[in-house]
Amino acid sequence: MAENSGLKLVDRDDDGIDRAFRADVLEGLRQNPKALPARWLYDDAGSQLFEDITKVPEYYPTRSEREILEARGAEFAASIGPGRAVVEFGSGSSVKTPLLLEAIDPAAYVPLDIAGDFLRAAAADLSAKFPGLPVYPVEADFMRRVELPEAVADMPKLGFFPGSTIGNMVPRTAVDLLRTMRETLGESSQLLIGMDLVKDRAVLEAAYDDAGGVTAEFNLNLARRINRELGGTIPVDSFSHEARWNDDFARIEMHLVAQTDLSFEVAGEGFTMGKGETIHTENSHKFKRRSANTLLLAGGWTPVQRWLDSGERFSVVLAEATIPRTAP
Ligand code: AVJ
Repeated sequence: MAENSGLKLVDRDDDGIDRAFRADVLEGLRQNPKALPARWLYDDAGSQLFEDITKVPEYYPTRSEREILEARGAEFAASIGPGRAVVEFGSGSSVKTPLLLEAIDPAAYVPLDIAGDFLRAAAADLSAKFPGLPVYPVEADFMRRVELPEAVADMPKLGFFPGSTIGNMVPRTAVDLLRTMRETLGESSQLLIGMDLVKDRAVLEAAYDDAGGVTAEFNLNLARRINRELGGTIPVDSFSHEARWNDDFARIEMHLVAQTDLSFEVAGEGFTMGKGETIHTENSHKFKRRSANTLLLAGGWTPVQRWLDSGERFSVVLAEATIPRTAP
């Protein structure tokens, strides 16, 4: 298995503080309205809470996508064919991957993730499940162009990006990422991508504000993480979780809402918030057929096939790297 050990992905100061985390938090809290990049939700506690979210009854995306991956294997095989190197972006625990690998007879599997220990453990599990399939984990930030292992250089690639993670990005960032993926994967590559669908507002808001309070905990964990890692004094109990549908941008927004006028410090800097003011912590964009197609096309991918679950809640789209050519 190829390893990129020695690659330092987290830059810490003398006090052990993650410099990028501190810079992002301070910049986001100085803004009006306050907003923090969603990627900081996923520390160990946050990643575990997200796993828990996927099991709550209101959170349909994971189950709907799994249904598609389970039901459509034969169609994936027909459209993708054998012999591709499957490159998974942000593979995490690779739970959905076996469904795809079983269906398409790939030549190799390349999981990409920033969490190195998690990545190597998941890769080892997968190798055990698919003896004979070469697995080359790469510890990397998939938002940047990734140098793939030499062993897969001559294989056609299939990018795999499940979970509607693309929906966490605003369109300009999503387009940047799609274009970067196309560079990483090269000519004649394909992309299989999960994209959640616009639906009834109440269903969406419940999916991001479950009655059991797991999503609320996931959101509040970011404030706890700031207190823990950045010497913060955020009064966590004075905030509540809100999931809000933004109809103009077709997205669910997660906010932490101040329940009273309050003040706190982070890394020695003071902040005040009025009652009702919020910290915006995550976007989850939802798509329709045409908005999904437009986003993919803008990122250099031509959609070729689309599958929905039986409840028509979620989509999985197969796209091909668009060949640059003169067009009207
Ligand atoms: C992991 C980004 C796919 O946006 O649905 C779930 C994260 N946030 N509940 C999503 C999330 C709140 C999730 N993704």
